[in-house]
Amino acid sequence: MIKEKLSIIGKDIYTVISELVQDTEIINLAKISPDIPCSTKLTDLATKYIKKKSTEYSHPDGLIELREAVANDLEKRYGVQISAQNEITITAGATQAMYTAISSFVKEGDEVVLFEPAFNSYVPAIQSNGGRPVFVHRKRPDYSIDWEAVQKLINTRTKLIIVNTPHNPTGAIFTEEDIARLKKITNGTKINVISDEIFEHMVYDGSKHVSVLSNKQLAERSVIISSFGISFNVPGWKIGYCVASEDLMARIRKNQQFQVNTVNTPLQYALADYLRELVNYETISKQFEEKRNFVNDILKDSRFEIIPSKGTFYQLLGYSQISEEKDTEFARKIMNEYGVALFPLSVFYHDSIDHKILGFSFARDEKVLSKAAKQLLKI
Ligand SMILES: Cc1ncc(COP(=O)(O)O)c(C=O)c1O
Repeated sequence: MIKEKLSIIGKDIYTVISELVQDTEIINLAKISPDIPCSTKLTDLATKYIKKKSTEYSHPDGLIELREAVANDLEKRYGVQISAQNEITITAGATQAMYTAISSFVKEGDEVVLFEPAFNSYVPAIQSNGGRPVFVHRKRPDYSIDWEAVQKLINTRTKLIIVNTPHNPTGAIFTEEDIARLKKITNGTKINVISDEIFEHMVYDGSKHVSVLSNKQLAERSVIISSFGISFNVPGWKIGYCVASEDLMARIRKNQQFQVNTVNTPLQYALADYLRELVNYETISKQFEEKRNFVNDILKDSRFEIIPSKGTFYQLLGYSQISEEKDTEFARKIMNEYGVALFPLSVFYHDSIDHKILGFSFARDEKVLSKAAKQLLKI
């Protein structure tokens, strides 16, 4: 009999909630997609390249024009020299980049250290490649990483450490100190690092995103993943990229060519032009920071505890002063009685640990945020 590989994995929380709220008046703040218009310059470029009949397959590593635009962009932002030819691959979103990187490194019995709460695609990708996830809880209340605890878990089976900064869904961000600790732990080992940095343009309060790319020695053993979908409000386009040293990238590309072959061509042309000439990163973080402040300004008069979000477009709310119910139950109650869908944080932990915390996305129109937040004030 064929054993189902991912028998314990159910639908992700965003899909579950979107199915529950379908055809109802419930305001869904547990949406994974930002609900914000993208740049019309970008859609104009997409239209132009679709009309130009850019219909052929592009190169499996990605259109060279887009890889070059990414290399220039990374040089401008992080001062790093990355080879478009050998060290950048365009992927069908960050999810595919993550799966392909994991499947390039992890084999039966390998251990992969990851931090919870964790984005839902990491564990299934590890398990379907025969790996064993080794979980470390982020420290509360700031969701920073306990590097001492990580050090104790490292052994000869440790193959990979997966990090995510800015972190979905807590909004925690890496500091230079985190990078230094990660570098120290991996120094002299064969451990690879995957750094999910898809929220790199959403960092607030004057802080800067600290990329794994900023440290040459750490970057050499790492794969850095980003997503144009999240950066430019086009999540449904499903295009992202990963960066890795030539050796690591050669391994990733072997899998890439069979897992996805090539990513759609016209949108790669559009993104290449957009990155080269039109992108303005400052407006991205400003726009999201304003939304965070807007909604939190209303929620400060609620009974919820606002847990500071330093990045991403997610906000966590503690409710231990309001109810003792489990977060899944309390989320359901708020949805049914107050008409707002929030996500329970426990679903991002393998052991479903419940700290009485709910979360939401503020990547929504301010009218929607205002209406939802005013409902939450009634609780
Ligand atoms: C942390 C994290 N990683 C990866 C992804 C997937 O990104 P993509 O849509 O580019 O596959 C998401 C989507 O929101 C995410 O939040």
